[in-house]
Amino acid sequence: MSLLVTNIGELVTNSDRRLGLARDMAVVTENDRIAWVGPASRAPAADAVLDVDGAAVLPGFVDSHAHLVFAGDRAAEFAARMAGEPYTGGGIRTTVGATRAASDDDLRRATTRLVTEMRRQGTTTVEIKSGYGLNVDDEARSLRIASELTSETTFLGAHVVPAEHAGDPWKYVGLVTGPMLAAAKPYAKWIDVFCERGAFDEDQSRTILAAGQAAGLGLRVHGNQLGPGPGVRLAVEMGAASVDHCTHLDDADVDALASTAIDCMCADGGHSSTVATLLPGAEFSTRSPYPDARRLLDANVTVALATDCNPGSSYTSSMSFCIALAVREMRMTPAEAVWAATAGGAQALRRGDVGRIAVGARADLIVLDAPSHLHLAYRPGVPLVRSVLHNGVLQ
Ligand code: NIG
Ligand code: FE
Repeated sequence: MSLLVTNIGELVTNSDRRLGLARDMAVVTENDRIAWVGPASRAPAADAVLDVDGAAVLPGFVDSHAHLVFAGDRAAEFAARMAGEPYTGGGIRTTVGATRAASDDDLRRATTRLVTEMRRQGTTTVEIKSGYGLNVDDEARSLRIASELTSETTFLGAHVVPAEHAGDPWKYVGLVTGPMLAAAKPYAKWIDVFCERGAFDEDQSRTILAAGQAAGLGLRVHGNQLGPGPGVRLAVEMGAASVDHCTHLDDADVDALASTAIDCMCADGGHSSTVATLLPGAEFSTRSPYPDARRLLDANVTVALATDCNPGSSYTSSMSFCIALAVREMRMTPAEAVWAATAGGAQALRRGDVGRIAVGARADLIVLDAPSHLHLAYRPGVPLVRSVLHNGVLQ
């Protein structure tokens, strides 16, 4: 089945760092892949036609950081924060309690609801982490549910030390790297660790990442969110695909990230760089200072934007909202923010087949109710995603 998407006023291809913009374009998809891209006046025939009437068309958003398998919410914690309480990550244990108590069906329903909510808003690739089970059975079931919804699944048994192991964190590290990893592995592509004061220290984080790597998983790190620390340098040292948050960085952190950066949108998704994934929804929701995106971009670090959707620090599923925050609060240009939310996310997941519009890439496109990508930041809070094509299928 082929589909001609035509009359595209502005096409974001991401063929270069400035979005590879082209005007008056058309795209033909064949089943789940892009088969042709070129001027609308020269478009070949297809089985069906979608005339977008001068609208902007972009690659689907790639949300490379989300915690979607959980039960309950923490609205009261959010309200307390807005009244002046700090965010410490301590509420994670509240969600662990609710998640362990939920039935498989309830957990599956809650996770599916969030993926559907994301899809409607233009996210066509999403990474989903475990991390609210924190025992062998509940981590494995979280990843089993996640794997029903995405291929980008991440084992985050090392989110925090659960209450029952509070007295002996190394014993918990042994559980994570032993039986929990063994149970998670069939459903996980990645392993992640929250390397932060109050969660896992440098030695513990290195041990966890090394065990994941030995088991064949790719590496991701939560680092430098709540304060300075070793997360970024550890991620670079171990060749992680991404280090996420990056809110508190020193010069050595920026240099380490810059040393891995490769300026490419290559078919293998840029296999050796460590991407800095910024999560401005977390700073918004915890009322914290935003990361210094300009410092990273000016040092040539590859930057991705993601939602961090979770019930504690960032309960948004909207990539458009994160783009608007990145532009307004982090001084990214609209083009940098849109690139980071599409091609940047793809690079953070080491995927060359998403985050761009090119022959052979996945047929994941969004049509805006607007003539230009600029409107995503210019019209914050407005539902501008008119249509979503996922794997060639109109949603
Ligand atoms: O990415 N930093 C650790 N994990 C999440 C927060 C999880 C929670 O508060 O439930 C984050 O912000
Ligand atoms: Fe997170």
